[in-house]
Amino acid sequence: MSNSSQAQDPGHIAHVHARRVWDSRGRPTVEAEVTLARGRTSPAVFCGRAIVPAGASKGRREALELRDGGGRFGGLDVQRAVGHVNGEIARALVGMPAGDQAAIDARLIELDGTPNKQRLGANATLAVSMAAAQAAAAAAGRPLYEHLAHGLGAPGEALRLPLPQIQIFGGGAHAGRRVDIQDFMVLCPGAASFAQALEWTAEVYRHAGLLMRERGALAGVADEGGWWPAFDSNEQALSALVQAIERAGFAPGEQVAIVLDIAASDFGQGGRYRLGLEGRELTSDGLIELLLHWCERYPIASIEDPLAEDDLEAFARFTQAVGARVQVVGDDLLVSDAALVRAAADRGAANTVLLKPNQRGTLTETWQCWQAARAAGYAGIVSARSGETEDTTIVDLAIGWGVGQLKVGSFARGERMAKWNAALRIEERLGAAARFAGAAVLGRNLPRA
Ligand code: PGA
Ligand code: ZN
Repeated sequence: MSNSSQAQDPGHIAHVHARRVWDSRGRPTVEAEVTLARGRTSPAVFCGRAIVPAGASKGRREALELRDGGGRFGGLDVQRAVGHVNGEIARALVGMPAGDQAAIDARLIELDGTPNKQRLGANATLAVSMAAAQAAAAAAGRPLYEHLAHGLGAPGEALRLPLPQIQIFGGGAHAGRRVDIQDFMVLCPGAASFAQALEWTAEVYRHAGLLMRERGALAGVADEGGWWPAFDSNEQALSALVQAIERAGFAPGEQVAIVLDIAASDFGQGGRYRLGLEGRELTSDGLIELLLHWCERYPIASIEDPLAEDDLEAFARFTQAVGARVQVVGDDLLVSDAALVRAAADRGAANTVLLKPNQRGTLTETWQCWQAARAAGYAGIVSARSGETEDTTIVDLAIGWGVGQLKVGSFARGERMAKWNAALRIEERLGAAARFAGAAVLGRNLPRA
């Protein structure tokens, strides 16, 4: 599209369509297509498509994912959400100017009319919100990340490839609760590029698998592609991870550091936490003490949901204790919600927000959360869900919005690799202009090995 005045007008929404497709757990999910038309006589047509993911360890305050209930597919069918897109949503959006994402999302929010998307379903609204952004980017003749950087994002900085957080062992709700902790991940602060961070992680992942096979501790592959570990304690997973980093030839903490998602809301509430694997129950302060001990003994750079979503004061005490040297991430605590980020920041709880668009149901609300986080001095991580698909929209969000970190699961399974590979393509396309976020995005000192 060489004519720049034409390129600035993406046209109007001509057609909105949804269908049921299947996610990485073999469960139904919503795919939407938004078609734009530009010009009256022989209009140019552009299409955007997106699929929504689904979580397993969800925060209580997430926007509602509408499921049909009943006996079919365990009650998880999405025919009602699909019907909402093909009916009400399509009628409301057709004819709208395609370039204004904020207006499209505002229309979706208004149409739903509930605080939590519980009428139309966040799976219906997000599929359309993302597909509209994809279509507008196509009409502008730009990749989505670039379109976002010029639109909602406008970070006014050179585009950066994110620092990836990559799962090595899966646990918690993603591996039959075989270990209590949900994600044992790595990040590569010492890598010089996104491509190199993936190369290093490939070696760590491979060595972790070999090591577990040697120990008879390999029980399969968890929901997000990490090894399903048969360990006797949570700490055994930590020491195995350090060993895998060393066997892969890297310096723990300096080149490759550990990232944990405790997902504590899954095994605790009301200030009591039950570690099933170890058969013990801890108070909030007991769990804090255990995590601080781990932070001293292991090269941990980042901890997500160290305490439950109903334990804000303990979350703040933990942040106070380690926040200067460890990234403390709110997922279930913040559910990508701008108001919850502001409230947490007021109490000094967490210093980083996890951004999952389906926790809110539109791109604009997710973007607003990221703005609130930036204003509070938080770092950010764009994240996939445990139920994913080949959709790679979140990679563009991480880069276009300048978020700096990306978490999409492990280094295996197509739905995960599709996203890492999409980021690799963008790094290559940006060429010399590509900058890698590296350790600087953590905004704090990394622990020593
Ligand atoms: P979920 O887990 O997608 O199953 O909610 C991911 C996470 O807790 O970060
Ligand atoms: Zn989480």
